[in-house]
Amino acid sequence: MASLTVRQLDERIKKRLRLRAARNGRSVEDEVRTILRAAGEESGAEAPQPISPPAPQTGRRAEATPAHDVKRVLLIVGGGIAAYKSLDLIRRLKERGIAVRCILTKAAEHFVTPLSAGAIVGERVFTDLFDPAGEFDIGHIRLAREADLIVVAPATADLMAKMAGGHADDLATAVLLATTAKILLAPAMKLGRMAEPLEIAAAVERLLSASTQQTLAGRRVLITSGPTHEPIDPVRYIANRSSGKQGHAIAAAASAAGADVVLVSGPVNLPDPPGVTIVHVETARDMLRAAERALPADVAIFAAAVADWRVANAGAQKIKKKAGQTTPDLSLVENPDILATIAHRKSQRPKLVIGFAAETENVAANAKEKLARKGCDWILANDVSPQTGIMGGNRNTIQLVTPAGIEPWPPQSKDDVAAMLIARIADELDGDKA
Ligand SMILES: Cc1cc2nc3c(=O)[nH]c(=O)nc-3n(C[C@H](O)[C@H](O)[C@H](O)COP(=O)(O)O)c2cc1C
Repeated sequence: MASLTVRQLDERIKKRLRLRAARNGRSVEDEVRTILRAAGEESGAEAPQPISPPAPQTGRRAEATPAHDVKRVLLIVGGGIAAYKSLDLIRRLKERGIAVRCILTKAAEHFVTPLSAGAIVGERVFTDLFDPAGEFDIGHIRLAREADLIVVAPATADLMAKMAGGHADDLATAVLLATTAKILLAPAMKLGRMAEPLEIAAAVERLLSASTQQTLAGRRVLITSGPTHEPIDPVRYIANRSSGKQGHAIAAAASAAGADVVLVSGPVNLPDPPGVTIVHVETARDMLRAAERALPADVAIFAAAVADWRVANAGAQKIKKKAGQTTPDLSLVENPDILATIAHRKSQRPKLVIGFAAETENVAANAKEKLARKGCDWILANDVSPQTGIMGGNRNTIQLVTPAGIEPWPPQSKDDVAAMLIARIADELDGDKA
């Protein structure tokens, strides 16, 4: 059977593979396997297998994966109605080639039995901290140590409170206290309302692959996101339609790639991405101050939609509407240009300064002009005309403008844009090192 090693491919193909893999959330080796499998299925021939290095299996069918490559998840099932979904979760994880061990809390045993969970896991499940057989056989410390990731699903209010308080009065909480592995919580409240098993399995895959592809480890990345609010008076403000979804997705992707991330966010209705240092601000001036305070950084990505102007004479008190009076005379002054200010810094200028250009016409031409005027290194240009649905939506179509030219990216989710950008940045910084 033919075989190849990824390392033997030429640089151009490797780079395209890395981008494709990042977009699909796979390792490069898994991406190669997927391409080969598809090619094999099309031609009816058996696909050649890449032989180096072996990678964890992500296919939906169980395949033989070298034992040292198998990822291990310890699933802790808490006592909620949603425990029945955890049986399906075990199946979903196993079909992704992930080895699963399972702990049931005493309360969980009221909802699913050790027998049914054990039948799906394919081995005994663990229930008791003081089980002599269990403690001599595997023991709670080994259960904690031998997991790449611990998943608590359903995570009951009780389990989360015990974790917060550092309690360890049963097997589940003793393991949670002892482990150094990452812990993924799937909270469930109000009868059965928990994330679906497929969503949890996808999050598990992301976390497991993030722990092996630390392409930005040791790098510090500053990201701005969301709109700014510019006060008219204490209760009114000027804003824009930015949701912060793109900037937050970039922060999450950078953090998953191992970067030390500072996210300076305007007011958004989004949860803080995990693992990042977040600074919440309101106005453009606050955003600039927070961005400058976050320096030095290797990379700065300015995804926030910063208001160009603010009200010069913002009222200290609420401006009253009075019968017979004319409308208030609001005069505007220019806000600081955060991207240009950081890009033109003499000291502590990040190695890579990246801006966004939200345009409604002449997208590429305006972005090229902006690249030169702002003194930044790359611009991600996007058409935010109302018919595109980009402002507030989940998808984005980017043209990457660099001094070398314009690169159109395919329409894709904001998460995929983030993954593609982070892969490009990692490539660029790697090139710097060479
Ligand atoms: C029918 C039923 C459903 C329950 N569902 C939940 C739930 O969804 N979330 C939760 O936090 N607690 C739920 N509880 C309460 C927990 O079972 C209880 O707090 C228990 O002590 C949790 O133990 P554990 O955290 O060790 O699993 C439920 C209880 C019953 C009787």
